[in-house]
Amino acid sequence: MAITDIDDQPWTKSNPHRVKLLGPACVEYGHPNLDAAHKFLIDFGFVEAGRAEGPSRTIFYRGYGAQPVVYIARETPFPEFHGGYYEAATHEDLMRATLIPGAGKVEALNHPGGGLVVHIKDPAGLGVHVVFGMMKREFTPPPQIVKAYNVPAAADTDITYKPRRGRNHGKHYFFSTVRGGCDQRKCHKVHKYCRFTDIVILPGLKPGIVPIHKVGHIGYAVRDLEPSARFYTTHFNFKPTEVTSFGPSDKAWPGLMFFHVDLGQTYTDHHSLMLSSMPTGPQATGSDHSAFEVEGLDAEFIGHDYLTQQGYKLYWGVGRHVEGSIVYDYWYDVDGFLLEHYTDSDLVNEDTPIHWAKPRKNASSWGPQPPMEPIPAPGGGVQPPTEHLSASSEEAQPPFEPISSYCGEIQPPGEHIPIGGVPASIGEVASYG
Ligand SMILES: [Fe+2]
Repeated sequence: MAITDIDDQPWTKSNPHRVKLLGPACVEYGHPNLDAAHKFLIDFGFVEAGRAEGPSRTIFYRGYGAQPVVYIARETPFPEFHGGYYEAATHEDLMRATLIPGAGKVEALNHPGGGLVVHIKDPAGLGVHVVFGMMKREFTPPPQIVKAYNVPAAADTDITYKPRRGRNHGKHYFFSTVRGGCDQRKCHKVHKYCRFTDIVILPGLKPGIVPIHKVGHIGYAVRDLEPSARFYTTHFNFKPTEVTSFGPSDKAWPGLMFFHVDLGQTYTDHHSLMLSSMPTGPQATGSDHSAFEVEGLDAEFIGHDYLTQQGYKLYWGVGRHVEGSIVYDYWYDVDGFLLEHYTDSDLVNEDTPIHWAKPRKNASSWGPQPPMEPIPAPGGGVQPPTEHLSASSEEAQPPFEPISSYCGEIQPPGEHIPIGGVPASIGEVASYG
């Protein structure tokens, strides 16, 4: 596909049935060893929010943001990517989702927080789910993670550029560690020494684990970008933010497309959805990666150190992307899926022009070069049985087939997509998101 194939810009076309989304709510993966997956997910920074037994054991995880669930781990025979859940703006938008090709009917969302869901299968056969009506939780940021930075100033007396002065007072320390924290906006005695001995105090987490705030974006690896890009921008308010190309010219191969949810003048994350199709390596369909926001630069590096100490495998990081300016840190989970800690994303709105990026030499603004080896198959490089692979191929699975509920039973091999296919190689990636 060339960029010119989508020069008609379907996101600019009027569509009275277009579903308005507010952003991602959660993402779902299937793991053969749920206990091992659980340990990684806790170490990554999630907090368990509930469990469901039955034919498919499921563990729900939350962050400290408003969404009641940000990650769903379901016990499945093979590693699987079940797709992202995006929140509809209104009940009417949820109902519009049932009109999308590949959509099922409205169902109850059997998650903590409840709500309703419409399961949809996109043109690549991947799951995307529209949710509405979940009971939100209180935003409960852990105290004392983000410190004000003292930056160069003409003089140390400049309180604007050097706001952190003196030492933490005992009262703040007491309230931050025992009573759940004081209000940093009102407390004039915070932001003193920049120490992190007490950064993680959320129940269920240990020192060194950086708490997750929210799921920020979900990456889908597809063989052909054009039908998926057309699908998401025709039926939803996804609008390209940046398109990154590969090859000798910017027309050669758009390998990455970053989409934000278009909320008019309201600013939203630089990208909530990413589609990837790489010119090298296996052109698989499945999960590219899912990204979860953490508090800041310090949290990012603290999490990096902790995951390293626990023996998990790093994929790429820490560095700062060009697209979205995101500070990234990618880790393999126990099944080979990539999860990203990120912080400091750009925000965009309807006035932000699409950036059609040309290939460039450097993959990041700063940070290590991207790994050259292809991403191994989820499951530690062990390929699933042939019948599972065939079930995940686009040839074997016609697009737009209504999906059955993921909320209950494990679907037998061959009757559902996916998904835990081999993510595309990003060995020659020019940028990432
Ligand atoms: Fe990302």
